[in-house]
Amino acid sequence: MITAFDWNDVLRWSKGAVRFLDQARLPFEVIVHETTDYRRIVDAIKRLEIRGAPLIGIAAGYGMALAAKKFSGPNFGKDDLEKAFRAFASSRPTAVNLFWVLERVRKLLDQSPTGEIPARMLDLALRVHEDDRKRCKAIGRHGLPLVGEGGIILTHCNTGALAAAGGTALSVVFLAHEQDIPVEVFVDETRPLLQGARLTVWELRQRGIPHRLIVDGAAPHVMRTFPVTAVITGADRIARNGDAANKIGTYMLATAARRHGIPFYIAAPLSTVDARIEKGDQIPIEERGSEEITSVLDRPVTLPDTPVFAPAFDVTPNELITAIITDAGVLYPPFSSSIPEALERGGDMTAEQE
Ligand code: MRU
Repeated sequence: MITAFDWNDVLRWSKGAVRFLDQARLPFEVIVHETTDYRRIVDAIKRLEIRGAPLIGIAAGYGMALAAKKFSGPNFGKDDLEKAFRAFASSRPTAVNLFWVLERVRKLLDQSPTGEIPARMLDLALRVHEDDRKRCKAIGRHGLPLVGEGGIILTHCNTGALAAAGGTALSVVFLAHEQDIPVEVFVDETRPLLQGARLTVWELRQRGIPHRLIVDGAAPHVMRTFPVTAVITGADRIARNGDAANKIGTYMLATAARRHGIPFYIAAPLSTVDARIEKGDQIPIEERGSEEITSVLDRPVTLPDTPVFAPAFDVTPNELITAIITDAGVLYPPFSSSIPEALERGGDMTAEQE
């Protein structure tokens, strides 16, 4: 039995502190932490207690607001603020939303009178959060026509309200469900850290959306034996040509979807586009600790000291992507022109002068 959860508790600023849901403990324990120490937020990002590309960026904004609050007090100078900045910048390498937020933080630090930094930093963090809420809603709206009369959606990792302020790929599913369009979701378990099994299932259950959990290797079989309407995943970084990095296993899904003539969509806010990167090969791919492969939920599943290769993300080449659902509309190939055009049109904060 699942008790209703207040989605604001995924991540929020509350009376000078940051509250966040510990996603590493889900779905077995629903624990909301509260901290006034930015270093706890850095740790939470590293340990995937806070995860999902947009949410990592939002958390860094709040974390910098915590650091800036201390900045006005004794024993905390500009060097400490720079140290906090570097700690966030080195917390996780692939999700570009983190750097998208840090770029705005940098500008603020360089351009603000010292006394105004704490208030401005908090204001920036709150605006980043609100901006993502709007983007997630827009992604849902733009993606809805692509699922048409509904049907079967296959997805990977977790792209719901735990990963962004409302969801990216799952935002389309949530909206369809809200509008009584019948959808069923096949959820990849998403080894190694099981974001599908632990988080997506939890979110879908909370909202009463029909779903079935599958092992990652079952996805092509599902595509062959069920009338899958679409495969929709999120992204952690999208290059200018549309190549998209997302949770390891996404490339395999896109390949199988092409083999079965099923549309493969990436759903992401424009803040996930890295305009400085031309193609996917330039995207840094995070490699994580070997223990994430050699054990499942802290239980060893192989021999001690087994050598492993543990990339956390892969890059899906643009030619396998049917379209990219963004807050600025659905982008179609050739992405090297549709992406720059969308960036030009912009979303909320993309166009805003901070
Ligand atoms: O390692 P994670 O759990 O942070 O990876 C998350 C994903 O790969 C999501 O699909 C991605 O961030 C986009 S959805 C918001």
